[in-house]
Amino acid sequence: MKRYWQKVLRLFPLLGLILLALAGCGEENLSAIQPKGTGAELQLDLILLSLYIMIGVILVVGVIYTYVLIKFRKRPGQENEIPEQVEGNTTLEILWTAIPILLLIILAVPTVMATFTLAAEEPKEGDDTLKVQVTANLYWWQFDYPDQEISTSQDLYIPVGEKVYIELTSNDVIHSFWVPALGGKTDTNPGLENTMWLEANEPGVYKGKCTELCGPSHALMDFKVIALEKDEFDAWTEKMKAGPEAPQTAKAQQGEEIFSQSCIGCHAVGDQGGNTAPNLTSFGDRQTLAGFKEMSKENLVSWIKNPQSMKPGNNMPAFGEQLSDEEVDALADYLLGLKVAE
Ligand code: CUA
Repeated sequence: MKRYWQKVLRLFPLLGLILLALAGCGEENLSAIQPKGTGAELQLDLILLSLYIMIGVILVVGVIYTYVLIKFRKRPGQENEIPEQVEGNTTLEILWTAIPILLLIILAVPTVMATFTLAAEEPKEGDDTLKVQVTANLYWWQFDYPDQEISTSQDLYIPVGEKVYIELTSNDVIHSFWVPALGGKTDTNPGLENTMWLEANEPGVYKGKCTELCGPSHALMDFKVIALEKDEFDAWTEKMKAGPEAPQTAKAQQGEEIFSQSCIGCHAVGDQGGNTAPNLTSFGDRQTLAGFKEMSKENLVSWIKNPQSMKPGNNMPAFGEQLSDEEVDALADYLLGLKVAE
């Protein structure tokens, strides 16, 4: 008996660890159980329905189990008695086949209905639904707005209160696009296109994650969805079309020159530059560097000098090593000045 309790006691640290891990699940705007979008609300309803059914099943089974344990335990004087031997019970067997079938039907009907509601239909010609193409890359996200002819990366801007139609693909391996508070989780597959829609009910910044193990920096492949009021969103697209303001200082101008010699083959600013690396048109507006790191000049400088130390396995070459400290500093000034939003 004493050994038994020792074993039970040993489980307590494990329980503590589980509670600690679960405590990390409440991060603001990164929670499927605090939905801020139509899709996520629908999904939470399904989660709760299955949870309530499971709690009901556990309670009923638990009560019967406890009752049987107490009622049929061996009592003093029964040491040599053999209990009554029973084999089969048609009523019970029908009952415990029918109840699970019923429960599965209760689960299946709303699940199938939600699956159809969540399916995205391509907007028709002339329809003013916003369309965004999401392309996942090791370890960053590209967002193209084909009708607006603008592109951005890492921060996906959408208008509030409308369903945004999203096409998803990947440039390399399989990633998965998930904005827990808004809904979704859709795989991005190279050479294939998946579709979904997102709708934010209120303005805000919603965190997104890659949820398909894709390499050493999978856990750092974060992005954001920035939901704006419709008029603010329209203003943002206009500013994106116009491109960022020109560099304000001589140093930033020097940075722009370095950028146009060394970076522009892969990174675009406005309509100039390559698309094999994140589009930097509104880089200075971002709240985070590389998706997860605090945006500061210090961090940006160390990123340019040694991107691998911050995000292992990414495809950014450490060409910053070939630049002087002064040149890296100028480049950082230029990049931080790339702003289109207020
Ligand atoms: Cu991309 Cu995990």
